[in-house]
Order: sequence, then structure tokens, then C-alpha cells
Amino acid sequence: MKVNKQLGKRFYQRLLVLSLGAIMLVATGCAATSSTNETNRATTVTNTINQQDKFEMKTKSLFINTSRDPQGNTAKMGDTFFGDVPHDTLFLNNYKVYQLGQEFPDDQFNIVYDAMKQADIIVIGTPVYWHTMSGGLKTLIDRMYELPYPDPNLEGKQLYFLMQGMNPSAETREQLPYTMTRVAKRYGMEYMGAARDAIELPILQKTLFEQVK
Ligand SMILES: Cc1cc2nc3c(=O)[nH]c(=O)nc-3n(C[C@H](O)[C@H](O)[C@H](O)COP(=O)(O)O)c2cc1C
Repeated sequence: MKVNKQLGKRFYQRLLVLSLGAIMLVATGCAATSSTNETNRATTVTNTINQQDKFEMKTKSLFINTSRDPQGNTAKMGDTFFGDVPHDTLFLNNYKVYQLGQEFPDDQFNIVYDAMKQADIIVIGTPVYWHTMSGGLKTLIDRMYELPYPDPNLEGKQLYFLMQGMNPSAETREQLPYTMTRVAKRYGMEYMGAARDAIELPILQKTLFEQVK
């Protein structure tokens, strides 16, 4: 009887351990799935590598979205900013803009530059990645170093800057617009200001609306 009781106790102990193990396995599986989804968010975005030789502007306002995600928060910020103002959007990740110093025959910097040339108003939007601008935007402005300055093709164009992040540091909020003022100055563009969050967005938007009315 005593032996039977002990065997029964052991059986229930093992059952308990097995059940706990199973629960943990399921939980880990779920966690892994959700973190995989998060990790893969960027890679599940379908990139449409630009096949055209030219970016045909239909309007005079250009939004250059330098995010990883064409439907992400930078895109939403751009949409809100423009409101009803007709504009063209160039999603930079669809273009092969190689690093400054890299010379590959399929480089598409000139197409992006050409779009900028056609616009009167250029709005550049970036997410904050690692306390700074997106790599795409950094590469784009690095590549602009190849242009003459001031650049007769860019002179007089209005430049607006949009940035947003989860919780950008004070340094980031200072530094990014500063860089953009320097870019504008170098190429003779008129710097119209920056919006760094949803509070600043309507203020800058007012400036835009005044310019296009
Ligand atoms: C690689 C990476 C680095 C990030 N680093 C920062 C950061 O340093 N500071 C911050 O406030 N947010 C950071 N974020 C959060 C993004 O700025 C935030 O999610 C933003 O809304 C993303 O915009 P998007 O949807 O256009 O990509 C980071 C996100 C990623 C993917």
C-alpha cells in the first residue's frame, strides 16, 4: 500500500513537471513568434526597387520618406503634414543610393536628385534610428556632397524637415535639425523649419499652408 502511494505521488509529481514544461514551451514559442514578427517587420515590407530612369513629379511638392517602412510612422507624419496639399512621395528605400565613394553602375542617386530639382517644396522625413537620422537620409545627404554649392538646381527651394522617434533625446532633437539647416545653407535652399513631434507638426504645417495658398 505504502509503495503504491509513493508511486502515485511520483506519477503526479512527474505529471506536474511535464505540464509545467509544456506550458513553458508554448510560452517560449509565442514569445519567439512575436519577437520574430517584430524583427522581421522591416523585411516583410515589399520593396519596389525603382525601375524608371526618372521620377516624374506630378506636383511641385516632394516628400522624401527616408524610413525603412513606407507605411510607418514617418509616412503617417508626412501625410498629416501635407493634409490636402498635393504632393509626390519618394520612398528612398526603393532607390539604390549607394554610399559616398561607392561607384556602382546601377546607382540611382541622380533620380532622387532629379526629383528634388523638379520640386519647389522639399519635405524630408526621417525616423530616429540609434539617436540619429535614418541611414538612408545620411547617405543621401552625404551623396549631396558631390553637388556644386550653392547648387543652381536647388537654390531657392524650400526645405522642411520632419523627424519622429519613440523618445528622441534632447541631443537628437537638437542635432538633426541643425544638420538639415547646414544642408539647406550649403545648397542655397531656404530652410523652413523642423517638426520633431506631433506638437510641433501643426506649427510647421501652418508655414507650409501659408506658402501654398
Ligand atoms: C533601428 C532602430 C533604432 C531606433 N532608435 C531609436 C532611438 O535612438 N531613439 C528613439 O526615440 N527611437 C528609436 N527607434 C524607434 C523609432 O524611431 C520609432 O519606432 C519610429 O516611429 C519609427 O518610424 P518608422 O515607422 O517610419 O520607421 C528606433 C527604431 C529602430 C528600428
